[in-house]
Amino acid sequence: MAETTAPVFFLLLLLLLSGHHYSAASPIKTVVVLVMENRSFDHMLGWMKKLNPEINGVDGSESNRINTTDPNSSRVFFGDKSHFVDPDPGHSFQAIREQIFGSNDTSASPPPMNGFAQQAFSMDPNMTHSVMNGFHPDKVAVYKSLVSEFAVFDRWFASVPASTQPNRLYVHSGTSHGATSNVAALLAKGYPQRTIFEDLDDAGISFRIYYQNIPATLFYKNLRKLKYITKFQPYGLSFKSDAKNGKLPGYAVVEQRYMDTKLEPATDDHPSHDVYQGQLFVKEVYETLRASPQWNETLLVITYDEHGGFYDHIGVRVPTIVVSPWVKKGTVVHGPNGSPTPTSEYEHSSIPATVRKIFNLKSPPLTKREEWAGTFDGILQILTQPRTDCPEKLPSPVKIREGDANEEAIVSEFQQELIQLAAVLKGEDILTSFPRMIGKNMTVREGKEYMENAIKSFLEAGLAAVKMGVDPEQIVKMIPSLSTRS
Ligand SMILES: *[C@@H]1O[C@H](CO)[C@@H](O)[C@H](O)[C@H]1NC(C)=O
Ligand SMILES: *[C@@H]1O[C@H](CO)[C@@H](O)[C@H](O)[C@H]1NC(C)=O
Ligand SMILES: *[C@@H]1O[C@H](CO)[C@@H](O)[C@H](O)[C@H]1NC(C)=O
Ligand SMILES: *[C@@H]1O[C@H](CO)[C@@H](O)[C@H](O)[C@H]1NC(C)=O
Ligand SMILES: *[C@@H]1O[C@H](CO)[C@@H](O)[C@H](O)[C@H]1NC(C)=O
Ligand SMILES: *[C@@H]1O[C@H](CO)[C@@H](O)[C@H](O)[C@H]1NC(C)=O
Ligand SMILES: *[C@@H]1O[C@H](CO)[C@@H](O)[C@H](O)[C@H]1NC(C)=O
Repeated sequence: MAETTAPVFFLLLLLLLSGHHYSAASPIKTVVVLVMENRSFDHMLGWMKKLNPEINGVDGSESNRINTTDPNSSRVFFGDKSHFVDPDPGHSFQAIREQIFGSNDTSASPPPMNGFAQQAFSMDPNMTHSVMNGFHPDKVAVYKSLVSEFAVFDRWFASVPASTQPNRLYVHSGTSHGATSNVAALLAKGYPQRTIFEDLDDAGISFRIYYQNIPATLFYKNLRKLKYITKFQPYGLSFKSDAKNGKLPGYAVVEQRYMDTKLEPATDDHPSHDVYQGQLFVKEVYETLRASPQWNETLLVITYDEHGGFYDHIGVRVPTIVVSPWVKKGTVVHGPNGSPTPTSEYEHSSIPATVRKIFNLKSPPLTKREEWAGTFDGILQILTQPRTDCPEKLPSPVKIREGDANEEAIVSEFQQELIQLAAVLKGEDILTSFPRMIGKNMTVREGKEYMENAIKSFLEAGLAAVKMGVDPEQIVKMIPSLSTRS
């Protein structure tokens, strides 16, 4: 007996002495998630390889033929001249298949990533140039600084090679509930799957969604329940003051402006929106957290829903940056190194999977995908104290778009889906030939007004219902023309 306990005891002592707290509580008490739109890794961060050769980015030798089946067709090299992108590159499931495989034959492994130029050319000859370029690091100075100060992930993939909504759904629920495209009717009706928000809430950990225009997180049906109505707070009124007063919740989602108007330009980086505005927004979120009394226990995750049709030389990788005073300066994270399974990778389900570990949640993974996804809590366990050298201010980005937002433009597909969500919240979906038609003809300015008005009445009605003692599991159903609650 004594012979076996001694080495065990010795090992335990060693572990304690070496300062590794294998089962110790995470230093992180607040996780902030920001999901930007529609840009690939190489497009946003590929050229950061110049700053740090360890980053699996680009050097300009990467190219695509304009016609993948014609070896004599012209070759387009990847450049660093990204500027203002309009219109929006292809990002349907079919378009992405052509981008990564060059044809409909999907048997190659790894995929050759050779059909970007061809697919873009088929939409508009000018678009080839847009998709085969990335940003020079100085054009995205806020990311340049974050990448050199904190952690960049160069093997983080979109969860599905498809459009925005399926990918956004993975971020908080580890599944798209089978969707591979934006299904307007289902989106508006609400996706039924369980989310990390519910796991956190059940474990007594607070969450809040700081929204602008309208919260896209309301695409999850369960979040519309009365019991969650106070979790939605306007970004402008609440985010900075909560941070300043040390009142940030355990899990905070910051949603950007999806609507592009002259006075309030969009901040989501979605083409054709100005990346300069997205950079300003990331800077504001970072500086707000940096100045908060909660900074020493904060983790900020910035990622992109999908690649938006832009070239990437590895796969459908999206930019991901993880910020915390617990992250060692200049960290580059590649894959999860065979953990938890030999095929595991980082992708959007890595967020709920990591949050589960950080908060030591007892609930099981939401899905098989979450169970499989790599977690990155390890990069927070290297330092023994929070850093004190993190910059208080980030550089001011350069303006990219010349001129103003075109607020009289007809809304994009994504914006239309948000308008349809607004229509459901407002109860106006029963008035028209829903869902395909609502919002189709709205301008960006009209759509913004419509959705901001809808979310305001939905939340007001919800609060009133809570006061009246309505069952918190219920979802408020508005009556349209009267604009009052049932
Ligand atoms: C691409 O090249 C193939 C083989 O030369 C040719 O048959 C096809 O028409 C070309 N496609 C386009 C879009 O030019
Ligand atoms: C490519 O060019 C070479 C030389 O001009 C020619 O022999 C060959 O047939 C061409 N291939 C195609 C697919 O057009
Ligand atoms: C590839 O599949 C799409 C439908 O998904 C079809 O429209 C297209 O013609 C196919 N292309 C080729 C080269 O077979
Ligand atoms: C392509 O760009 C040129 C020059 O910028 C412009 O004149 C032309 O109209 C564009 N073509 C399309 C299809 O947008
Ligand atoms: C990007 O933007 C388009 C247009 O709004 C939208 O349809 C799409 O879902 C977004 N995501 C992708 C991957 O394109
Ligand atoms: C964070 O921790 C560092 C190092 O312990 C300390 O110097 C600093 O004052 C702390 N900052 C806040 C906001 O608590
Ligand atoms: C949108 O506008 C066009 C042209 O003004 C009109 O023909 C069409 O019926 C409108 N569609 C909807 C859904 O209102």
